[in-house]
Amino acid sequence: MLVLSIESSCDETSAAVVDDLFSVKANIVYSQLDHAPYGGVVPEIASRAHMRTMVTTIRQAMMEAAADWDDLSGIAVTCGPGLVGSLIVGVSAAKGIALACNKPLVGVHHMEGHIFSNLIEHRIETPFLTLLVSGGHTELIVVKELGTYELIGRTRDDAAGEAFDKVAKLLGLLPKEGSIAGGRIVSDIAKQGNPQAIRFPRALQSETDFSFSGLKTSVLNYARQLDRAELDAQMADIAASFQAAVVDSLVHKTIGFVDQGNMDLQAVCLAGGVAANQPLREALKTQVEQRELPFHCPSFQYCTDNAAMIGAVGVHRLSRGQIDGFELDVVPRMSLC
Ligand code: KG4
Ligand code: ZN
Repeated sequence: MLVLSIESSCDETSAAVVDDLFSVKANIVYSQLDHAPYGGVVPEIASRAHMRTMVTTIRQAMMEAAADWDDLSGIAVTCGPGLVGSLIVGVSAAKGIALACNKPLVGVHHMEGHIFSNLIEHRIETPFLTLLVSGGHTELIVVKELGTYELIGRTRDDAAGEAFDKVAKLLGLLPKEGSIAGGRIVSDIAKQGNPQAIRFPRALQSETDFSFSGLKTSVLNYARQLDRAELDAQMADIAASFQAAVVDSLVHKTIGFVDQGNMDLQAVCLAGGVAANQPLREALKTQVEQRELPFHCPSFQYCTDNAAMIGAVGVHRLSRGQIDGFELDVVPRMSLC
C-alpha cells in the first residue's frame, strides 16, 4: 500500500508518500516565510502561499518517492482542525488527484496525525499516553487502540506552543523576516539563561487540565517593569525561567496521570511542534523511564507539521476501508475525543 498525503492546516505546505509499514518514502515540507512582518500567521496570506506551492510540493514528493500515480492506494489529507482557507487548498488538491486518478480519499484529523507521528519510527503497544503539544493544542490523551482516544486533560486557555509564540512576541524576539516559530527562538535564547532565575507560576497544579495564559501575563508584567537595557541583560534568564515553568507544568500533569496507575499504560509519548523542545523531551523521558515505561518522541522533522504523519493515519484508515466521499468538508474546529 502506498498513500500520498497532504497537510496544509496552518503555515506549512507538505506532501508525503508513506507505505503500509508507515515507512516514509518522501516527506516534503515547505514552511511559509511570508508572515514575519505581521508577527503571526495571516490566514489569507497562508491560503495564497499554499495555493502557490501545493502542486510543486506534491510533485516533488512523488518524484522523491519514485512513485507513479497508478502506484497509489489512496490520497490522505488533513481536513481539520486548522485555518479554513488553508485546509480548503489541501482538501481541494486531494480531491482533484483522487478524482483524476480514481483513488479513494481519506480525511484526517490533524491531531490524530501528531499522535501517529510516533508510530513512523517506533512500534508502540496500546494503550499508551500521548502528551500533544502544538501551537493550537495542549492535550493529554490515552490511545486505547489506534482510532480510539480518551481525553484526560486539555488547556483551558492558551496552548503551550501559543504561549511560547506570544512570549517571543512580547519580548520582542520575533525577526522581521524569516521563520516566526517563537518556540524555537525562545528555547535557543534560554540555553544561555538560568531556569531558576525567576519563579514564574505553574497553574492548576492539582488538576489534569493545563493553563498557560497566567504564565504569559506574568512574563509580560515582569518584562514591563524593566527598562530596555535591563530587559536585554535578563532576556536569557526570562526565556529559561518561562520555559522551565512550561516544562514543569507539562511534565507534572503527565506524570501525575501515569502515577495514578488507572490504565495499563504500555508507553508514554510526546508529540506536536513543542515536542521539538529539548528540555521538555529530556525532562519527560527521565521521569517516564524512572517508572520503567518506554518513552517515545518523534525525530525533529516529524514534530512540527508534516504530511508523513497524515499519511500514517491514511494508511491505517485505508487498511480498514474507512474512506470518505467527495463531499468531504473542512472543519476548522474539530475535537478528536
Ligand atoms: O505542531 P505544530 O507545527 O503546528 C500546530 O499544529 O500548531 O506546532 C507549532 C508550535 C509553535 O507554537 C512553535 O512555537 C512550537 O510548536 N515549537 C516549539 C519549538 N519548536 C516549535 N516550542 C518550544 N520549543 C521548540 N523548540
Ligand atoms: Zn500541528
